Amino acid sequence: MCGIVGVLGSGSIAGSIVDALKRLEYRGYDSAGVATLENGKLERRRAEGKLKNLEAKLAAAPLLGSIGIGHTRWATHGKPTETNAHPHASRGLAVVHNGIIENFKALREELAAKGYAFATQTDSEIAAFVVEDELAKGKSPAEAVHAGLKRLRGAFALVYLFEGENNLLIGARQGAPLAVGYGDGEMYLGSDALALAPFTDRVAYLEEGDWVVVRREGADIRDASGKPVQRRIQRSPAGSLLAEKGNYRHFMAKEIHEQPEVVGHTLAHYVDMAAMRLKPFAWPVDPKTLGRISIVGCGTAYFAGLVGKYWIERFARLPVEIDVASECRYREAPVERNGLTIVISQSGETADTLASLRYVKDNGSKTVGVVNVPTSSIARLTDAAAPTLAGPEIGVASTKAFTCQLAAMACLAISLGRARGAIDEAREAALLAELVLTPGLLAEALKLEPAAETVAHAIARARDVLYLGRGTAYPLALEGALKLKELSYIHAEGYPAGELKHGPIALIDEAMPVIVIAPRDAVFEKTVSNMQEVAARGGRLVLIGEKHAAEEAAVAIEHVLAMPDMGANFAPIVYAAPIQMLAYHTAVIMGKDADQPRNLAKSVTVE
Ligand code: F6R
Repeated sequence: MCGIVGVLGSGSIAGSIVDALKRLEYRGYDSAGVATLENGKLERRRAEGKLKNLEAKLAAAPLLGSIGIGHTRWATHGKPTETNAHPHASRGLAVVHNGIIENFKALREELAAKGYAFATQTDSEIAAFVVEDELAKGKSPAEAVHAGLKRLRGAFALVYLFEGENNLLIGARQGAPLAVGYGDGEMYLGSDALALAPFTDRVAYLEEGDWVVVRREGADIRDASGKPVQRRIQRSPAGSLLAEKGNYRHFMAKEIHEQPEVVGHTLAHYVDMAAMRLKPFAWPVDPKTLGRISIVGCGTAYFAGLVGKYWIERFARLPVEIDVASECRYREAPVERNGLTIVISQSGETADTLASLRYVKDNGSKTVGVVNVPTSSIARLTDAAAPTLAGPEIGVASTKAFTCQLAAMACLAISLGRARGAIDEAREAALLAELVLTPGLLAEALKLEPAAETVAHAIARARDVLYLGRGTAYPLALEGALKLKELSYIHAEGYPAGELKHGPIALIDEAMPVIVIAPRDAVFEKTVSNMQEVAARGGRLVLIGEKHAAEEAAVAIEHVLAMPDMGANFAPIVYAAPIQMLAYHTAVIMGKDADQPRNLAKSVTVE
């Protein structure tokens, strides 16, 4: 994940910027750079590879400015070359960027037609050009950034440095974190408080859509509409920095809100965004030889596998068998020699999953590990690694690891489809174009938080809750019920909506909320019929679906969580956000510990 640092200091600050970037090395990167102003003019040094290469360049040709920005780049669009390294510059400004700008191709064409010449293959460069384009209309730097931000879509954080402006940095947060550091006559910006620790322990975290004009005298924070807002300045004690909650009350809330960023990074691991092709994946067995595939996991990881089953069957036309690991390890299932098993685990240490992995390996299956902790036992034992880049997940209930597992499974399903000839290059590009929109859509969906909190007040009074979904929304119904159970201790069940009339419809009454997860997909109309069946029996419906779809449904719905319009293929990645927020807020309203629910452990290393 990219790291960002900005400093308004005194004396030469390039060395301090590099020191701060070193604290962001844990995020992973493959090139780095710094820009400062010298006598008002922009000067940059950038290098491929590790920070020591950048330090060597700075030693050979020092930067003397007292204001500057720095960046560690984790390549998404374009190779990790010096040209593609940040800061990117255009006439009069430089910018560092973390995240993905979805509409960069369209903006590039628009600006190229106006005569702008692009020097890199990155999406980031466009963030410099849109602001230059606004400056050319006679706007001030702050007006130009505000106008430029409105032209960018996706999930990202940005910091701008302007030529001739020795006392000005402008930062913005839209889906990726950015913190403001307060010093003594100096000010800072950084991806997190850890980066700012060498300078200050007084930090304010920007909220979604915020942008900030920073001068040595202080910070002027605005919301997306341009209205000035206050963000609390907190002290970040050095020892707690790696596991800090920022503006959030709980790690779980923080991790829910990290999803646009970490899903983006997980996708960037698999997708060559510039070419809209999958990067090659080293399958441990030729997918063309497979007659079926197996998936194993526990809990939330199992539900990610269940969504993966739908995708693999749809895109690769390959039958999938899926097991919860505690069943797989003892039921003596026949294992196909030289077949393929995908093992999914956040921790990579779950005892049942690890035992299942050993069982299938001992019986001749090749294995792929969809794992979040790269040094874990499962990551080390599997034949091929399909990492999720969620970063450390501290909340016991899995959130960002789940959506990153979904992102990885979507890429694996498309890769299997291509390898088996079930989808062609054009379909691959179309699917990936839809998939890479999910981080931005997640950022949109997270804006439903106040609405989710309102619904949570109703759920908190219930004794039982039913979750319904069809297709890939069915595993999400199971995940929604699990999240609610484990966090609030309210009994909840997830059901395929079509099964309603085969039993659970008997439970419907005025007391039980029925949460229907209904993206606008091929089975949407069928789900609407199920909602009508619930409404006809006085059931209390909560719909998670698109606004227009809800209007068309013409059913008495008590609450609608109105999701952004989107293609249906990868809806589970985005629809995970409201079900997580519902469970989280219900637990908080009921006074339960959202980070450490009773009786649960983060890593279940015993049977
Ligand atoms: C639920 C949850 C658990 C885990 C399960 C597997 O919120 O977190 O159900 O998903 O214990 O853990 P990992 O993925 O570490 O194997």
